[in-house]
Amino acid sequence: MRILAIETSCDETALSLVECSGGVNPPAGGPQFKVLQNLISTQIAVHRPFGGVVPMLAKREHIKNLPRLFRKLAAKSLQLKAVDAIAVTVGPGLEPALWQGVEFAQMLAKKFHKPLIGVNHLEGHIYSTLLPRSSIKLTARSLKLEAFGHSHAQIKFPAIGLLVSGGHTILVRMDSFTKWKKLGETRDDAAGEAFDKVGKMLGLPYPGGPEIQKLAIKGNPKAINFPRPMLNSGDYDFSFSGLKTAVLYYLRDHKLTARSLKLKADVAASFQQAVIDVLTKKAMRAAEQFGAKTIFLCGGVAANKELRHQLMGKCQRSNVNFIVPEFIFNTDNAVMIAAAAYLGKLRKKTYPIKANPNLNL
Ligand code: KG4
Ligand code: ZN
Repeated sequence: MRILAIETSCDETALSLVECSGGVNPPAGGPQFKVLQNLISTQIAVHRPFGGVVPMLAKREHIKNLPRLFRKLAAKSLQLKAVDAIAVTVGPGLEPALWQGVEFAQMLAKKFHKPLIGVNHLEGHIYSTLLPRSSIKLTARSLKLEAFGHSHAQIKFPAIGLLVSGGHTILVRMDSFTKWKKLGETRDDAAGEAFDKVGKMLGLPYPGGPEIQKLAIKGNPKAINFPRPMLNSGDYDFSFSGLKTAVLYYLRDHKLTARSLKLKADVAASFQQAVIDVLTKKAMRAAEQFGAKTIFLCGGVAANKELRHQLMGKCQRSNVNFIVPEFIFNTDNAVMIAAAAYLGKLRKKTYPIKANPNLNL
C-alpha cells in the first residue's frame, strides 16, 4: 500500500510517500516501510524571534509550504499515480495548523479520487519506532531523505514505549504491534516543553531542547541537585513544572552575568540530568514490572543524545532490547504519519477527518 502522508500539527510542514507492507501476525513478519520521499519544511526560524510557536504564523507558513512541497513530491509523477491512500494528522496539535493539513488532504483526496485516512500524531511517534534505520542517505542541506530497504526494528513484546515530545510525555505498554495501553503521562508540562522553557530562562534560542543539549556538554550534571519530581510516586505519571520552577529560583538566586557561561552550562547539564533520571527510572521500572523485552524511545526529546545514551546503557545492563528511531524520525515528520495510517488500517482504527487539537492516545 502506497501512502501519501501530510503532517502540519505544529511548526513543521511535512509530506511523505511511503510504501507499506506486511501484517501484524506471523508469518507476515511485522509491518515494513520503504520511504520513497520525505519532505520537511521547518518553521523554526519564523517562530524563533517570538521564543515559541505562534499558531497563526504556523498556519500562514503551512498555507505557503503545502503546495510547494506537494509540487516537489509530484515531480516524480509515476510515484504519485500509484498512491493508494492519503493520510493526514488530525490531532493533537495547534488547531489552525491542523486544519491546513486536513483541508489540503481533503482537496487532494477529491482531486485524485483517493481514500483519506485520519491519523493521531501520537500514534505516529509510537510507530516511528518501526521505520527503517539502515541505508539512509541524507542530503544535509534540504533535510530531504531518500531511504531504501525494508528493514524494521525487531520489537520483542511485551514492550515499554516512552513518548517524549514538546506536547506529551507518555509511557505505554505494548503487547503487540496493534495492542497497547497507556500506563501514565505528565500531569503538567511535557518533557520537551520543560526543555523549551528552561532554554528560554537561560536566554537560549527556541527550541530549547537541542540548545540545552549543546550547552550541557560544557557543564557538570552533578553541579546542582535539582528535584526529580515524582521519581518515587509509585505510578507512571510525570511532572516537570516543579523542576522548571526550581531552575527559575536557582537562576534568580544566582544572578547570571555575561561571564556566567560556566554556571549556565552547569544549570543546563543538571536540569537535563534531572529529566533523564526521572524518564529512565520510570521506564526501567515499568519494564521490570511488566517483564518487557524491549524499551523504545520516541518523540522529539528522543533526539537528546544523553537521554538515548543513558537509557540504552540501562537497557543493556538489564538485558532489555533498546530501540530508538533515526534522528530524522524523532522530531515531527510525515513518514511516521504514513506508518501510523497503515497500522490504523491493520488495527481497523479510524479517526474522523477533522482537526482535533486535544486528541490523546
Ligand atoms: O515531537 P516534536 O518534534 O513535536 C511535538 O510533537 O511536540 O518534539 C519537539 C520537542 C521540542 O520541545 C524540542 O525542544 C524537543 O522536542 N527536542 C529536544 C531535542 N531535540 C528536540 N529536547 C531535548 N534534546 C534534544 N536534542
Ligand atoms: Zn510530534
